[in-house]
Amino acid sequence: MTTATATTVAIAGGTKGLGLTIAEALVVQGKHDVVIFGRKRTTDLDEKLPARLVIVDYDNIQNLTEALESNNVSDVICTVNSNGSSLSERNLIRAAENSSKTARYIPSIFAGFTYPIKYPAFAKCKAEVLEELAKTSLMYTAVYNGMFMDFYGSPLLKSNVDPFPMFVDISNNMAAQPGSGAQAIVLTRVLDVARFVVRLLDLPDWPKESYVIGDRVTLHDFVNMAEEVRVSLSGTKFHITYDSKEELEAGNVTELPCYSAVFAAVGKDLSKQLYSQTGLWIINNELDLRPAGTLNDIFPDIKSMTLREFLELSWRI
Ligand SMILES: NC(=O)c1ccc[n+]([C@@H]2O[C@H](COP(=O)([O-])OP(=O)(O)OC[C@H]3O[C@@H](n4cnc5c(N)ncnc54)[C@H](OP(=O)(O)O)[C@@H]3O)[C@@H](O)[C@H]2O)c1
Repeated sequence: MTTATATTVAIAGGTKGLGLTIAEALVVQGKHDVVIFGRKRTTDLDEKLPARLVIVDYDNIQNLTEALESNNVSDVICTVNSNGSSLSERNLIRAAENSSKTARYIPSIFAGFTYPIKYPAFAKCKAEVLEELAKTSLMYTAVYNGMFMDFYGSPLLKSNVDPFPMFVDISNNMAAQPGSGAQAIVLTRVLDVARFVVRLLDLPDWPKESYVIGDRVTLHDFVNMAEEVRVSLSGTKFHITYDSKEELEAGNVTELPCYSAVFAAVGKDLSKQLYSQTGLWIINNELDLRPAGTLNDIFPDIKSMTLREFLELSWRI
């Protein structure tokens, strides 16, 4: 159902993951027309998607502009995850700028902290996207939401995002804490990110950065919570190790069993670089977002799921 003031929102990359969750949330809310931009149509996609799929060519700015104009798209929410190249999204931003119908844009940032700004070399793609947006007349806001809580889920709690646990290996009752485990990190459930993004569309003005804080916990408390939930099932305590700053700086991390699939998929060296770098960011308190204001403050009726609730629903049997 749409209202008389309905606008059309395009979710680029909304065929899975966070984008699909945002599309589902928008359709449930029913306030806007929704289209999903994707690169190809497969037979199962039309059944799975909550909104109409528009096939686009991210290499062709004219094609993207026509897709935005012919679908009357006022707002673009980009969730493309293009592994190392920002070209698709930079082209989409140029098309949104060219489109006579499009005024607002949420880029595919959704990060654990403001690393595109602090570490542009590491987060090259995201930094390039923000630079491209700054050249336009589009209203835009980059969303920072901490780590996806869903990375620590089990099949018991459905999510459009697959598990990708770091430092806490719940299914194997193990943890490898960066440093002492005393530093806090922010984690937000993907569905809660989607809820706040949907509400963002109601705001007449957007700051350049928007923050969502699902929960804030120290790694130490995270491991304790996971252990409490799991101990009733397995009867065993977690095996906990600590990776020192020096070890992480040397690129060494404790190889948790849950990392083996990632090692196989992207190679051990690259994976260890990611885990050790993230561990160092945690030690440096970089993942403990402390913004001046949050979307949680603006929309207090949205209650984010806590990590404890998430772990109970995922792992308590
Ligand atoms: N804070 C965190 O912990 C965290 C964790 C994970 C991800 N993220 C961020 O959240 C956002 C969404 O991530 P996600 O995991 O939900 O994404 P995803 O499911 O991996 O991918 C989303 C979509 O990206 C599209 N895509 C992939 N390569 C592309 C390319 N070269 N050009 C255009 N489209 C492409 C695909 O759509 P089609 O194939 O249908 O075109 C895919 O459905 C990203 O900004 C990501 O960096 C944050």
